[in-house]
Amino acid sequence: MNSPQYRVFVCTKQRPASDSEGCCFNAGALEIYQAFQAEIHKQQLGDRVEVRQSGCLDCCEARSVALVCQADRNEFSWLPAKIRLKLRRLLFPNRHLYGHLTPADIPKIVDSHFIKGQSLKRCQISTNQ
Ligand code: FES
Repeated sequence: MNSPQYRVFVCTKQRPASDSEGCCFNAGALEIYQAFQAEIHKQQLGDRVEVRQSGCLDCCEARSVALVCQADRNEFSWLPAKIRLKLRRLLFPNRHLYGHLTPADIPKIVDSHFIKGQSLKRCQISTNQ
């Protein structure tokens, strides 16, 4: 598989129910993750969009949360691959953080973000992550 154009990181961090900080897992993160996978498959975007579970994205109050990164494959192409990967992680210019997600939001995000190429503002909680 070629490198995907987009990566979706769905926070599935789990904490004890007694933890006052809460967590995405207890807010239905697995359903969000599965909804992304199902919609990506339905729209036949599997070669362009990769969906992964992730740890805490540090926006716990907005659970459930997903981070979408767009990879520019030519970015830093003049650097050695190892350094390029590290730089991309640090400086990813196209990152969109979605929060307060429900499974019903996912088809709208997939359509807007991955098909039309525009982030879905209604579900965004920040662009500065
Ligand atoms: S537990 Fe999901 S963002 Fe912190």
